[in-house]
Amino acid sequence: MSASTPWGGRFEGPPDEFVAEFGASLPVDRVMWREDLRGSIAHVRMLGRQSILSREDAETIERGLEQVRDDLASGTFVFDNADEDIHMAIERALVAKVGAVGGKLHTARSRNDQVATDVRLHAKSLAVALVERVATLQAALLARADEHFGVVMPGYTHLQKAQPVLLSHHLLAYLWMFGRDARRLRAAYDSADSSPLGAAALAGTTFPIDRRQVAKDLGFADVVPNSLDAVSDRDFLTDLTYACVTAMVHLSRLCEELVLWSSDEFGFVTISDAYATGSSIMPQKKNPDVAELVRGKTGRVIGDLVALLTLLKGLPLAYDKDMQEDKSSAFDAARTLADCLRATEGMMATMRVNEDRMRVGARGGFMVATDLADYLAAHGVPFRDAHEIVGKLVLACERDGRTLQDLTLEELKAASSAFGDDALRAVDIDAAVALRSSEGGTGHDAVRAQLVLARDSLQEERDWLASASA
Ligand code: ARG
Repeated sequence: MSASTPWGGRFEGPPDEFVAEFGASLPVDRVMWREDLRGSIAHVRMLGRQSILSREDAETIERGLEQVRDDLASGTFVFDNADEDIHMAIERALVAKVGAVGGKLHTARSRNDQVATDVRLHAKSLAVALVERVATLQAALLARADEHFGVVMPGYTHLQKAQPVLLSHHLLAYLWMFGRDARRLRAAYDSADSSPLGAAALAGTTFPIDRRQVAKDLGFADVVPNSLDAVSDRDFLTDLTYACVTAMVHLSRLCEELVLWSSDEFGFVTISDAYATGSSIMPQKKNPDVAELVRGKTGRVIGDLVALLTLLKGLPLAYDKDMQEDKSSAFDAARTLADCLRATEGMMATMRVNEDRMRVGARGGFMVATDLADYLAAHGVPFRDAHEIVGKLVLACERDGRTLQDLTLEELKAASSAFGDDALRAVDIDAAVALRSSEGGTGHDAVRAQLVLARDSLQEERDWLASASA
């Protein structure tokens, strides 16, 4: 028997050295060593319980796997150049520890269901870790929304000043976006939460295995009902990667705002020194590199999803070696998102909010124009006419370099007889915000109600985290 590969019996020659390296996935899948050991231990216990292996053999193998676990945990495990992947590396180490009986571990199992099991377990723990990070970022947003409650800033459409809003309202918009990301991550967790073990290579096995018991031992909610689907389904990875993509897109939008807001032109925030860098030539520079990098890494994660979907497209059932490439994309997406969530959370928690600059910004841009028109409409002027009257006032102010707040009551009354003695209230920026009290609006009361909802939804997320088995 050619000793270099587990399939040596059928082969007359060893694999080409480069081909062995080309076909290896160890650099990517070694992160799954804990999952691989968990899966193998659950499997061998079941083999013992079902009398497929003798109790003694099953126990010997389990003890051997525990020793391998100690070596991996302590960093003393020595990988071999010939190890194609983490599964074979662990099996080789097992046989080295317990002898030929280690070869019985693979009874009623194939690497195909073994890999699918490990990746599902790993995907579940990645989803949990990411929901945790998302919740931490949401908590930072919530804390800043609380801290700066009442601060008014310009709201934009087309990046042109539109209507004043509360900073808290703007921050909460992101909290809800990340809340949806947490939902998608949880859905990805659910789609990974069935055990494929026992599907063997593709068709099931002739041994009297107990799939349900193994699934339970591994913390899976169910078993995959079809062995072909069990070894070829990677939807849980596309779900996870897609959840990472939307979260990255959201982070990228937030970071783009931080880049803008920290510029001299806006000056709304000052990014902490800990999250910025300088220039090697321009002494005055302080650059929002971290925010830019998060924005940039979003492209990579979108690429991960495209790579994964393209890889799966057109694959015939059941397992194909193409699928070995699934892990690098999905794991990269998860790792990148985790880092970006961490960086953004730190940036949000430590940046200085320049409340005065926001307030000054809210005075410009004629943002209470809609409120003036609404005032007229509420006093009987058809809205189209009101729009035109206020449009003319804006034009006049613009010519004179004044704001709507600079207008006198007399000037308003001259523009329309519908302006009464209380008309100046309509140009008051705080009043303009407070009056937008419709549900989900930026009015102080509406945002207070929203803060309560936000706290509740964060609590619900934390409850899920406490109950999720990783
Ligand atoms: N390392 C491989 C993977 O990640 C395992 C290959 C399993 N099966 C096979 N028939 N080659 O997919």
